[in-house]
Amino acid sequence: MTQTQGSLVRQITDYAHRADPYPLYAELRKTPVAHDEEGPYIVSTYWEIHGLLHDPRLSSDARNLDPRAAPEPVDEDEGLPPSFLKLDPPEHDRLRQLAMAPFGPPHTPRRLHTMRGELTRIVGELIDGFEGRDRIDLVDHFSFPFPVTVICRLLGVPREDEARFHTWAGTLTTGLDPDPDADAAERQRTARQARTELATYLSELIEERRRAPGDDMLSAMVAGQGPEEGMCRMELLSTAALLLVAGHETTVNLITNGMLTLLRNPDVLVRLREDHHLVVPLVEELLRFDPPVQMLPQRTPLSEIDIAGVTIPKGAPVWLLLASGNRDPQRFPDPDRFDPQRKDNQHLGFGSGVHSCFGAPLARLEAQIALTELARRLVRPRLLEDPPAYRRNAVLRGPRQLPLAYEGLAPDGSR
Ligand code: HEM
Repeated sequence: MTQTQGSLVRQITDYAHRADPYPLYAELRKTPVAHDEEGPYIVSTYWEIHGLLHDPRLSSDARNLDPRAAPEPVDEDEGLPPSFLKLDPPEHDRLRQLAMAPFGPPHTPRRLHTMRGELTRIVGELIDGFEGRDRIDLVDHFSFPFPVTVICRLLGVPREDEARFHTWAGTLTTGLDPDPDADAAERQRTARQARTELATYLSELIEERRRAPGDDMLSAMVAGQGPEEGMCRMELLSTAALLLVAGHETTVNLITNGMLTLLRNPDVLVRLREDHHLVVPLVEELLRFDPPVQMLPQRTPLSEIDIAGVTIPKGAPVWLLLASGNRDPQRFPDPDRFDPQRKDNQHLGFGSGVHSCFGAPLARLEAQIALTELARRLVRPRLLEDPPAYRRNAVLRGPRQLPLAYEGLAPDGSR
């Protein structure tokens, strides 16, 4: 493989690799930290990625990128300021803690527990909706509506507005794809418009929740707002937008990739049907084997970093290939084997370090319930297309559609 300027980025983002990027990653791991003159530093091995995710010298704030090295001007913040995903400590920690207060331990330890029944009900209703058909597109009929409904309920977005959120979230996640062939100006224009519309919508919703609080997260974040310790208005806006977008495409792809992997491994599907405890390690293995977030292409050193014999200069763009680290034989024995009972499975599917996924407990629960119920209720399901057609996005990777056929539905015994 040649490593000339831009060629690694082109190979990684090349749609030809989308259905199976793993042979390319194996090739890339021969050079743990690879670089061409002006392009990003590409990190593809487990320990190097893990080390950098825990290194306080590596910034998530795009404003620290050297403007000569940044491929496109950074104007992401029009309409909304950067969310804590794109901030460094201490601001990152302050906002993450404020957002965490209404979401989980130690302040709200029962939030997820109390949602379990509702999640199971939403899944049951979606599967009931397959009645009378013998084939479905899993993405449209299940994987997409499920987490979108959940994140909207969690935040307190009225049901009738959910469709508008799908559109905004879709536009914003497409903007995360570092596709060198995309029309950058056009993408910035549509992303800017989506951010402005979303910000306007969320502003109104925040005002409503201030007047009439509910038991949702947005109401709790609004109530915690104050000049000293709470979030200011703009911080509330960007946090709400982050939760909405982060809770969208990612879980959709985990469920879809999960069902695809199960249908390619029918013995595991049978085992899951017989033993629903298997679902816990199985979802962890999916997050290792075929993770929805393939890479983090937005990091930069605050000062020079020496790693794997390479010096990464201050301000250079760094891409961390999480999905490649997950298949690193130096970390995981027999890494290309899907082993739902794998031990010592500290995968990078949710990242690691200070930015590690905030929504991981929710995403895990959603995927566990979804896959258990699909395995239990679909009678003799089979793939109608393998490999399925994938979305363009190389960062948030997953099938655009997953057409399935089945021979009937088992009754829902969970409700
Ligand atoms: C399978 C589903 C999901 C996957 C694979 C996933 C993956 C990730 C990854 C890899 C990161 C690290 C980003 C970085 O280091 O720059 C992250 C951060 C984050 N995720 Fe998730 N995520 C998922 C679901 C969710 C859900 C459901 C939510 C919201 C409820 C969420 C909220 C967040 C937030 C707020 C951050 C930023 C954390 C921070 O910067 O401190 N995620 N996620």
